[in-house]
Amino acid sequence: MNKILITGANGQIGTELTVALRERYGSNQVIGSDIKRPVANHDHTFQVLDVLNKTAIQALVQDEGITEIYHLAASLSAVAEKQPLRAWELNMQGLLNVLDTAKIDQLKVFWPSSIAVFGDHAPKAFCSQHTITQPRTVYGISKAAGENWCRYYYDNYGVDVRSIRYPGLISHTAQPGGGTTDYAVEIFHQAIKNRQYTCYLKPHTTLPMMYMADAVRATLELMEAPSLGLTVRTSYNVAAMSFSPGELEAAIRKHLPAFRADYRPDFRQTIADSWPTGINDHQARHDWSWMPRYDLPDMVNDMLVRLRQEKDLR
Ligand code: SER
Repeated sequence: MNKILITGANGQIGTELTVALRERYGSNQVIGSDIKRPVANHDHTFQVLDVLNKTAIQALVQDEGITEIYHLAASLSAVAEKQPLRAWELNMQGLLNVLDTAKIDQLKVFWPSSIAVFGDHAPKAFCSQHTITQPRTVYGISKAAGENWCRYYYDNYGVDVRSIRYPGLISHTAQPGGGTTDYAVEIFHQAIKNRQYTCYLKPHTTLPMMYMADAVRATLELMEAPSLGLTVRTSYNVAAMSFSPGELEAAIRKHLPAFRADYRPDFRQTIADSWPTGINDHQARHDWSWMPRYDLPDMVNDMLVRLRQEKDLR
């Protein structure tokens, strides 16, 4: 029976992935962990865990009989640029601690990579699986190095580690935690509350994006795919939709005609400009039958319906 540990369980992906894994495997089989216990967390299985403390990870794995780790704890792109060395340590050492624990106990591992591994020399519009990765951000550098470490542990120690290069993720449940694509969530909250949003990217900045329902399903499907079919042990490209802030504004305005955005680019514009505008996910579709379900209109519709219901926003 799988016994799962999630690090970074309070983050944007962790919040929804914990729920999905519990629905799949049962509540007692899934332990959420994070550096702090959130005030409103009444989850009796929750553990406070610092991923930089390898001894603590190993003790928890032993005590709980963990068989799989979803290692999500990381610093995202915009926050990482403010404290590059701290971000490098968290993103890199945290991953190495998890991989080394997995090596000892032969655990299965999921680790998120990102479109941030690509830089100026990768194809812009339909970025291939195997191409030049010369990232310009410390976040991207840590993800590119991490991908290679994942393959190294697979090749040399047989650790069954699987990874996805997520695009920008959009969720109605959890707020993003300091990424360059956070605007695509903030804009919904501001559109509903104030009918106005000031975006930190230029209106024509197209980026690859995905609705969280698709991202969670991709994660579960990759982890359940037969190992034999997986040809990529660095990280898989996955795609769902690409849009710019201007296109998202227009799509929201179809539902909220009074909504307006204005644009005041900051340092995140340079990060966004270094990323692809679209992703070729042929390999994921071929190897584990990946297929997105949400496009821009479906995502916008679902976000607005759910935010209004859940957050009681009008
Ligand atoms: N959404 C992430 C970020 O903006 C990309 O992986 O940092």
